[in-house]
Amino acid sequence: MKSASVCGLCASLLAATASALTIQEINGNRYLSPYNGQEVTNVTGIVTAKSSAGVYIRSVRRSCDRRVSDALYLYGSQLAGNASIAVGDKITVDGKVTEYRSTDAYLYLTELSFPVVRAITKNVTQIKPLVIGKDTYKPPTEQFSSLDGGDVFAVPNNKTQISVANPVLDPEHYGMDFWESLSGELVTVRAPVAISKPSKYGETWVVGDWPTTGKNGRGGLTLSDKDANPESVIIGRPLDGTSNLKSYKIGDKFQDITGIVTYQFGFYYILPTTKLALTGSAEPTLPPPTSLTSDGTCSGITVGDYNIENFAPSNTKHVSNVAGHIYNYLKTPDILFVQEVQDNTGPTDNGVVDANVTLSTLTAAIKNISGVEYAFASVDPLDKQDGGQPGGNIRVAYLYRSDVLRLRKPNPGGSLDANAVLDGPTLKYNPGRIDPTNPAWTSSRKPLVAEWETLDGKNNFFTVNVHWESKGGSTSLQGDVRPPVNLPVEKRTQQANITATFIADILEKDPNASVIMAGDCNEFSVVLPIITFEQVSGMVDLDVAAGIPVTERYTYTFANDMEEIDHTFISPAIARKGVKAEHIHINTWVSFDDAVSDHDPTVAKLNLCK
Ligand SMILES: *[C@@H]1O[C@H](CO)[C@@H](O)[C@H](O)[C@H]1NC(C)=O
Ligand SMILES: *[C@@H]1O[C@H](CO)[C@@H](O)[C@H](O)[C@H]1NC(C)=O
Ligand SMILES: *[C@@H]1O[C@H](CO)[C@@H](O)[C@H](O)[C@H]1NC(C)=O
Ligand SMILES: *[C@@H]1O[C@H](CO)[C@@H](O)[C@H](O)[C@H]1NC(C)=O
Ligand SMILES: *[C@@H]1O[C@H](CO)[C@@H](O)[C@H](O)[C@H]1NC(C)=O
Ligand SMILES: *[C@@H]1O[C@H](CO)[C@@H](O)[C@H](O)[C@H]1NC(C)=O
Ligand SMILES: *[C@@H]1O[C@H](CO)[C@@H](O)[C@H](O)[C@H]1NC(C)=O
Ligand SMILES: *[C@@H]1O[C@H](CO)[C@@H](O)[C@H](O)[C@H]1NC(C)=O
Repeated sequence: MKSASVCGLCASLLAATASALTIQEINGNRYLSPYNGQEVTNVTGIVTAKSSAGVYIRSVRRSCDRRVSDALYLYGSQLAGNASIAVGDKITVDGKVTEYRSTDAYLYLTELSFPVVRAITKNVTQIKPLVIGKDTYKPPTEQFSSLDGGDVFAVPNNKTQISVANPVLDPEHYGMDFWESLSGELVTVRAPVAISKPSKYGETWVVGDWPTTGKNGRGGLTLSDKDANPESVIIGRPLDGTSNLKSYKIGDKFQDITGIVTYQFGFYYILPTTKLALTGSAEPTLPPPTSLTSDGTCSGITVGDYNIENFAPSNTKHVSNVAGHIYNYLKTPDILFVQEVQDNTGPTDNGVVDANVTLSTLTAAIKNISGVEYAFASVDPLDKQDGGQPGGNIRVAYLYRSDVLRLRKPNPGGSLDANAVLDGPTLKYNPGRIDPTNPAWTSSRKPLVAEWETLDGKNNFFTVNVHWESKGGSTSLQGDVRPPVNLPVEKRTQQANITATFIADILEKDPNASVIMAGDCNEFSVVLPIITFEQVSGMVDLDVAAGIPVTERYTYTFANDMEEIDHTFISPAIARKGVKAEHIHINTWVSFDDAVSDHDPTVAKLNLCK
């Protein structure tokens, strides 16, 4: 029995008879098979794995062309259920070459459907898996597809589709091409580390022992400019029917993983032969609390920002968890920007929009554990006009320590009152929403501007609390459309521009004004909405001003990336005086069940003296 993993002569691979094709000929060197839709006969390979839905085979001889997969998926539960076919057998099948996808946002998977077995030779050889990064190219670390024009987040989106352009694979340079060139292959990931929490299906993203970019101190990969980490892969449901735990955390280490490369649900997967085996976890289990505490005077004001995820007063566990974070991890900052505050009856859709019970429930819970008294400020939305969980009427709000700060000349605006910058500068409404009837805010949260002063009345500053429209409905980074669709990037850019224009108005009237903008921007700093915000407003990114390393700039985890979608920006006058800032990774580091919110909070310490 000869080892089948030796690279054969390319020429001989192509010398098959006209109708009996090799696996390599079926796959070709592009995404789509040149034989798509055709019936083929006498396709021969060694069985590498079986699932409940099909059988994976690899060519007896390997190709010398690394763009071409040597493996093929034979789709058919009858074949899969045939106990006389085992891993290591050589089988010859007829079938129809098929490109399958479940939605047109996904890539096609090349497979042989309706397979009929012509011949089985038992136990010919056990295929040795390809070790990723050793027997293959090293997974490309930055670019996903040649069709992205160098930037997976470029605007406009969807200039083309892989299914239309069908590019020749370049697995050395493009991450999707790399995984596509291994479609159906049996591979091994050495020394895997979890870079995501498992999804609700127990699927976990990992990287192996190959070179990566963007690795942060916890072991995850942080998204940065033109680098959304295509070197990672998601580990799916084990082929042997076992299940992966859902309690894994970012930074968990596992025994080597062997499995089959495939594409499903918008991503390249490895389906492991059996469940993951944990060998260790990142330490410490929990992040430290912030080191930034208030001076209680204008020279050291602490500012927190926290999306408290669908916060309703009836969810007493969530209330006490959030209050615990604000006291234990954020150290009760002087002013706290919060997002996703629901009305007094939470998601019950009954016309209630007032949130005074919600906010006083939170401030009472904080006082109960800390003794600290917070006051709050917000403006109610109109019923069902601001998006989010149906009936919840989420809005942004401020909590502030009434022993340190107060609203300057309070004059709250109504839901539809457009705030304006008056000479001073000062605000028409305090607090008040920005341009609430502008169509850019349809079904979306309106920003809330407020002006504050220290209790001696000597130092004032402005705050803008935002929660821009979410990315829901966007296509996968490994999907068909290139660059991927980032919804709704044009609308979010308008929201950024409107927010920025208001701030620019304050800074035009007083270039030395202290202005803080913070919130859930639902966007990365390298993408058009945030770039627009910075250019139009003249504000400074807090992370940049505080010198937080690029890899540690994250507040959220989505698919394979750790990323910053919650941002704080400060006016140049604040930045000039020197700032400190920390992201508190109390939710990204813990398991899914232990997270209190899907976002991490941030704390900054700023000098707001005149
Ligand atoms: C398929 O292989 C069988 C022998 O196993 C042979 O008789 C037949 O001619 C082959 N068919 C084609 C189309 O190559
Ligand atoms: C399994 O495959 C062999 C070879 O094609 C065939 O003879 C047998 O009938 C199959 N068994 C079932 C249950 O389909
Ligand atoms: C398969 O072949 C190998 C090597 O010849 C042998 O050690 C093994 O026992 C065989 N397995 C089965 C299931 O027959
Ligand atoms: C991408 O563009 C194509 C061609 O205009 C269109 O058919 C398709 O629906 C678009 N896909 C998405 C996800 O927007
Ligand atoms: C909430 O506001 C309503 C109406 O203004 C008032 O009657 C009620 O006492 C307030 N509740 C709390 C907890 O502040
Ligand atoms: C106050 O804290 C205690 C524990 O310290 C807790 O049992 C109680 O439920 C809390 N009450 C409120 C209103 O949060
Ligand atoms: C921002 O909005 C203004 C006013 O509508 C418009 O003139 C300007 O082009 C916009 N800027 C950007 C960068 O979108
Ligand atoms: C801004 O502050 C600086 C000192 O920090 C001062 O020199 C400058 O005149 C001020 N500019 C305005 C427009 O007040």
